[in-house]
Amino acid sequence: MRPTADPETGADGRAQRRVLPIRGAGLAIRRAGRVLLDGVDIEIVPGPLTVIMGPNGAGKSLLLRVLATLVPPDAGTVTWAGTTPGRDRAPRLGFVFQKPVMLRRSAIDNVRYALKVAGVPRAERDRRAAEALVEGGLSRLAGSPARVLSGGEQQRLAIVRALATRPEVLLLDEPTANLDPSATLAIETQVRDAHRGGTTVVFVTHDLGQARRLADEVAFVHHGRIAERGPADRFFNAPSSEAARAFIEGRLLP
Ligand SMILES: Nc1ncnc2c1ncn2[C@@H]1O[C@H](COP(=O)(O)OP(=O)(O)OP(=O)(O)O)[C@@H](O)[C@H]1O
Ligand SMILES: [Mg+2]
Repeated sequence: MRPTADPETGADGRAQRRVLPIRGAGLAIRRAGRVLLDGVDIEIVPGPLTVIMGPNGAGKSLLLRVLATLVPPDAGTVTWAGTTPGRDRAPRLGFVFQKPVMLRRSAIDNVRYALKVAGVPRAERDRRAAEALVEGGLSRLAGSPARVLSGGEQQRLAIVRALATRPEVLLLDEPTANLDPSATLAIETQVRDAHRGGTTVVFVTHDLGQARRLADEVAFVHHGRIAERGPADRFFNAPSSEAARAFIEGRLLP
């Protein structure tokens, strides 16, 4: 069935699918007799920078993948801008994985390829790719083979590549998990700049310091459920769930 949401026409003239708000309702995933997501209700609205926190194995990555429609839930629904996501138009959604997946070509060709997939006409791809690299501070690496870049450089390139398509929403799954402190801060700056530029950001991390630096809103995932959700100030200063209190204080979770 074709989705009925208003298409938004990009600068390239191609219809692009609006994504926000993303609504997950009653999301459940079971594998091998285990409940991995357990009736999650979540809404991502335009604006705030949402950080999804929680301990290892809580279900953060799965939840992000389900919201991006990379993994279908066993129960529950995901809607984008009020309708079921279809495959007929390029979604205005960027996804950055914990381990960047680079094509075996130059940095700028990785960005060009993403623009091609997003339906940007050939004539515009060179300019848009070069601009995106400048904005991300990576233009000096444009001609380097993407796979020989350092981990931090590849991750920054992954974000540049996602942003080049001008997404409405950017989902990032622990993009700094393997990076040194300066690469981590560079990525946080890049993400904050994108957010200031109008991109809605959902950032998964279990790093408390990073969450405090970035979050407007926190969703805390524990045992496949959202144990707590609210403004970052309240989450860090007066968490209401025992699980979140234990996590913030570095205690073993219940
Ligand atoms: N395809 C799968 N089949 C079976 N179990 C899975 C599958 N994918 C994830 N899991 C399990 O689901 C649970 C949640 O996984 P998920 O990757 O979402 O955790 P996470 O919160 O992202 O953890 P981390 O902080 O370590 O990245 C884990 O126990 C994991 O082993
Ligand atoms: Mg994960």
